[in-house]
Amino acid sequence: MSSAIFLDQQRAKTLIAKHGSPLYVYDLNALENRAKELLRYCQSLSCTPRYAIKANPHRDIIKLFSRLDLHFDASSDYEADEAIAAGVHPAKISLSSQQPPRDMKKTLQSGIKFVATSFHQLGIVEQTGWKDNIAVRLNPGLGTGHNRRTTTGGITSSFGIWHEYIPEVLDWQSKSGININRVHIHIGSGGDSKIWRTAIRLSLELIQQLPSVEILNMGGGYKIARLEDEKSADIGRIIIIFGSEIKNFATRTGRKLRLEIEPGTWLVGNAGLLLSRIVDIVDTGKNGFNFIKLDSGMNDLLRPAMYGAQHEVKILNDSIKTADYVVVGHNCETGDIFTPAPGDPEAIKPRKLNRASIGDLVVVGGAGAYGASMRAVGYNSFPSAAEIFINGSR
Ligand SMILES: Cc1ncc(COP(=O)(O)O)c(C=O)c1O
Repeated sequence: MSSAIFLDQQRAKTLIAKHGSPLYVYDLNALENRAKELLRYCQSLSCTPRYAIKANPHRDIIKLFSRLDLHFDASSDYEADEAIAAGVHPAKISLSSQQPPRDMKKTLQSGIKFVATSFHQLGIVEQTGWKDNIAVRLNPGLGTGHNRRTTTGGITSSFGIWHEYIPEVLDWQSKSGININRVHIHIGSGGDSKIWRTAIRLSLELIQQLPSVEILNMGGGYKIARLEDEKSADIGRIIIIFGSEIKNFATRTGRKLRLEIEPGTWLVGNAGLLLSRIVDIVDTGKNGFNFIKLDSGMNDLLRPAMYGAQHEVKILNDSIKTADYVVVGHNCETGDIFTPAPGDPEAIKPRKLNRASIGDLVVVGGAGAYGASMRAVGYNSFPSAAEIFINGSR
């Protein structure tokens, strides 16, 4: 079994018999171990680790991470509400959203740490009369991602205030009298692991222009290996790099900054998988393809169809023969596909899998992040896969 596929055939059959198909299965031990690992790395540098709720807002995951003392990053005030309903204290939530919260004053008064992502949002803060600490999200002009759609920095990205507008931010700060104490940067998800030193140096250059800033939040985006030949980002090493650059900054400027990071995928991605059943097998002739159709699809896991994202797929049977298959979902949509070409949802790429039969169970690995939280709910009126937790062996 690879690290992303943590169920064998027998256990999968038992779970499906009990809960039905399709089914999201999360490994509680893996979630807990990952959170503890992150906390260990952060402790040595007094870095605040936040969980990016958007990756998977399941209440039991938020509760678990809250119990372990992670802080949280919310991408909408609705997500912040979810965390508060799960028992998280508002002061442990950082809110950075494309859309302003419904009630800015209430949000600020609750203790949530608000990150303004545009001048319009700064204006709404000013209207409330609030003067205390506010963060700004900056677009540093640098982006990375496992593809263009998960890249959130650079001129093609609408996230945050463009770095060249720092003089206008300073101007706004002196006119409004509001303290900007934190800068938030998130340049994208799953990109090049080597970019982090460049990213923090660039961020620190921007912070040098903002004298009131005391905290740097470097966002999330740390890659995980979803396939056997992929390599995960070494988050422990990345945190050490961040720490040493912050120390150099302190030596240069006399300013001691506090670090925050907020991974989503790294914490939950490989702790979840999607089980489903083969409902049909068709082919398109001798020059064509063999297609396996599942009782799940983009209404449960959208990443492959949306990004050309690569997930491990395994047929859970005892066949010793293999065949090349394209695995597709059950929605009436050509793009509803589990095995696209890497980074290209327009193209298919057959995978060598166990020779399959209708009724076999199929497992899709690495589905704990942006799976259940990002599904095309309601399409073709298919119900959503249930989500359950097990105690895996890891
Ligand atoms: C602001 C912000 N922080 C953190 C994350 C988490 O990213 P990842 O799941 O790649 O770690 C995201 C994801 O898009 C984000 O937008």
